[in-house]
Amino acid sequence: MNRLTIIGASGHGKVVADIAGLNGYTDIVFLDDNESVKECGGFKVIGNTKTPVEGDVFIAIGNPQVRKRLSEGRKVVTLIHPHAVIARDAVIGEGTVVMAGAVINPNARIGKGCIINTCSSVDHDCVLGDFCHVAVGAHLCGTVKTGECTWIGAGATVSNNIDICGNCTVGAGCVVVKDIDEPGTYVGVPAKKIGGGES
Ligand SMILES: CC(C)(COP(=O)(O)OP(=O)(O)OC[C@H]1O[C@@H](n2cnc3c(N)ncnc32)[C@H](O)[C@@H]1OP(=O)(O)O)[C@@H](O)C(=O)NCCC(=O)NCCS
Repeated sequence: MNRLTIIGASGHGKVVADIAGLNGYTDIVFLDDNESVKECGGFKVIGNTKTPVEGDVFIAIGNPQVRKRLSEGRKVVTLIHPHAVIARDAVIGEGTVVMAGAVINPNARIGKGCIINTCSSVDHDCVLGDFCHVAVGAHLCGTVKTGECTWIGAGATVSNNIDICGNCTVGAGCVVVKDIDEPGTYVGVPAKKIGGGES
């Protein structure tokens, strides 16, 4: 049996299921705590997050803290779209998904449980902490570092040699040109803080 159980039957889960099929999984099922959701991308929802899982599992939840919690104690797989471009020496952590059109350049290190979303890029020597998300069309220039659970919004750009601490949300279209060392929400060009606390 070539089964993959995906936790999180959402739009993100649908994209993950498509990539899983392209990675050779032929028996894909979902789990979700929302009982009203019966299918996702044409695949059945067969239970909730407490349902015992056999075989491979992937956590397809956008919220980084929830993704982290649900990953604990599970053997999660890594999924890479065949049309992502990944340097030979880049390191991709377990439970991470790399989507179509993404580019990961030499010596980049991506943590566990990350989302490298459609047409985003992570350039040379970047280091991403666990459970980060580089959203659709966002770009990290060379030697950017991000802490755990940080989310770089759609179309945002992070200039080279920038450090962003953990638990940050960088808004859509934001341009980060200075280090960010306080958790919170940042928007605009250049980035300015609009909210505190966890992302
Ligand atoms: C940054 C973000 C998380 C803020 O969400 P929020 O906390 O709900 O904030 P609000 O929508 O209440 O906006 C607060 C203020 O910030 C402004 N703002 C929000 N997002 C902004 C952005 N990306 N760029 C510039 N200004 C932004 C709002 O206009 C508002 O300004 P105002 O107080 O003058 O009216 C959200 O707007 C965002 O950009 N999310 C990214 C979505 C994304 O990338 N999705 C990708 C999925 S792959």
